[in-house]
Amino acid sequence: MCGIVGYTGHESAASVLLAGLRRLEYRGYDSTGIASLHDGRLHLRKLAGRVRRLEEALAESPIPGACGIGHTRWATHGPPSDINAHPHLGGEGEVAVVHNGVIENHDALRAELSADGFTFQSQTDTEVIAHLIARELRLLRDPQIPRADLLLNAVLRALPRLEGTYGLAILHRDSPGLIVAARQGSPLVVGVGEHEHLLASDATAIAPHTRQVVFLEDGEVVRLTPDSLQIAHVNRGPVTPRIDRIDWAPDAAELGPHDHYMQKEIREQPETLRNACRGRLRRDQATAVLGGLNLTPRQVRHIRRIVFAACGTSWHAALVGEYLIERLARLPVEVEYASEFRYRNPPLDDRTLVFVLSQSGETADTLGALHEAKRRGFPTRAIVNTVGSSIARAADGGIYLHAGPEIGVASTKAFSAQVAVLALLALYFGRIRGLPFVDGLAALEALEFAPEAMAQALQTEPLVRDAASRFQSTRSALFLGRDLLYPVALEGALKLKEISYIHAEGYPTAEMKHGPIALIDPETPTVFVAPRGPLHAKTLSNIAEVKARGGPILAVGTQGDAELQRLADVFLPVPDVPELIQPLVAVAPLQLLAYHVARLRGCDIDKPRNLAKSVTVE
Ligand code: G6P
Repeated sequence: MCGIVGYTGHESAASVLLAGLRRLEYRGYDSTGIASLHDGRLHLRKLAGRVRRLEEALAESPIPGACGIGHTRWATHGPPSDINAHPHLGGEGEVAVVHNGVIENHDALRAELSADGFTFQSQTDTEVIAHLIARELRLLRDPQIPRADLLLNAVLRALPRLEGTYGLAILHRDSPGLIVAARQGSPLVVGVGEHEHLLASDATAIAPHTRQVVFLEDGEVVRLTPDSLQIAHVNRGPVTPRIDRIDWAPDAAELGPHDHYMQKEIREQPETLRNACRGRLRRDQATAVLGGLNLTPRQVRHIRRIVFAACGTSWHAALVGEYLIERLARLPVEVEYASEFRYRNPPLDDRTLVFVLSQSGETADTLGALHEAKRRGFPTRAIVNTVGSSIARAADGGIYLHAGPEIGVASTKAFSAQVAVLALLALYFGRIRGLPFVDGLAALEALEFAPEAMAQALQTEPLVRDAASRFQSTRSALFLGRDLLYPVALEGALKLKEISYIHAEGYPTAEMKHGPIALIDPETPTVFVAPRGPLHAKTLSNIAEVKARGGPILAVGTQGDAELQRLADVFLPVPDVPELIQPLVAVAPLQLLAYHVARLRGCDIDKPRNLAKSVTVE
């Protein structure tokens, strides 16, 4: 979704901003623009389309200045167009604003500002903010206020008028070298460099410049010049900045020798699993160590129910978590769509622990669910990848995935890291709640083997590439799995629809006969996620039923499973591993399948249409 980048320092703002915008492209957007400040003038370039077009426009007609702001827009109010692209100018062009989020009272403000003589160019809610700040600047002609503080004061006076969410970055024609930024419900991070400061909605945009960052909190406003960084809270006054360090190397977000980020991230999964488990397994006690959870064994014993709330792929991972925790820890688990949990007011009791799961840590629905649980006084925990993200900071404790930045819109390595972390959680809870030592040790050893198993599962790639051609002109596909592999079937279907735009449905295998079987025909492939397990014989019967109706069958199964191989038109063998880690080895060929089908169909794999990496609006 929308991205913000800002720079004030000694380099060309346009080139720093362009580099930052390129690194934000993965979030999904439809238009882009930058504004720079030089010699008392604001210079603006913005257009609908990709950052590459903006780069061409800037090459033809460069803009000067070492201070500027940039934006990638994902349309909410008003269609993608040059005019609706950010930055927006306020007053008669004295301020420039970029904005992430949604201003809910924009209609009323627009009417008020129009009545005051302000003219609007765009249909966006953002332009309202620009005019509001310009109006405050005019009203503030107070000789007592030093010129350098004018913009900050005007912003502080304008913000209380806004209802909704925002991450904002603002330039003022008469305030050289100054960026003022504000956050309410939409993330912002400041990068601290040598005689330069950067600003971004996402640390990946600024990582090549600096790894020293300050995460802003809701209600904070920051004033940045090349040599100064001041933060104030709108109600509570000055705040001392806390500098954090980004814990991943900036090239972690580079494509390297891979063709797409999705491909890179699929291939990174053995390492992802290693990182998710590093330092968290305790062999002598056959358990996991999860310090950030902030739960004593006594508190764990007190829990009677767990509720997971998440969206998209994270929701699928949570479903694997339900099976794992119920199995190892005998604790009832419910998995909710975050957007439903937030508003449907589910009954919870004092012994319920609410967990939210999110790769980005910024998904609006998931953050909303977390706030709702907190509002009702329930203890909350989070499983998150992005360090310092809104969800990570708002929860009472949690577990980081340590998967590094995930750039491809279709989530892959974050899913496997989430599953690994949920297995750790199940082991930890289980060992407190009666799981015997030997069973704990078996789970621990399975997790230790997971990176190697994943590496073996990824070796199916050449077979998957061949199989992909069978899906190239398919219109619809079924994905079936049972028990721990049912969520994997859902995830396989989601991957295929997200990036290849083929309709796909996931079901529990045995549920097939209650409806989906009506879809089976020679044009509709069924993907069985069927590594060997206690119910394997039943799955084989289901496969025979599909075969009898002429449906093409692709099966992900255990290496050496001759019977499955005989029944399937395409057999993708994965290593023979304990059930606990079967979801990890089984998801790999499905991710690769979606990738290669999308590739054959010429789809934009890392930036699929209409999707955004991090959905920060409801
Ligand atoms: C978007 C992305 C999905 C992702 C979901 C949840 O819809 O396109 O890939 O699974 O958000 O994201 P989160 O960052 O909360 O895990």
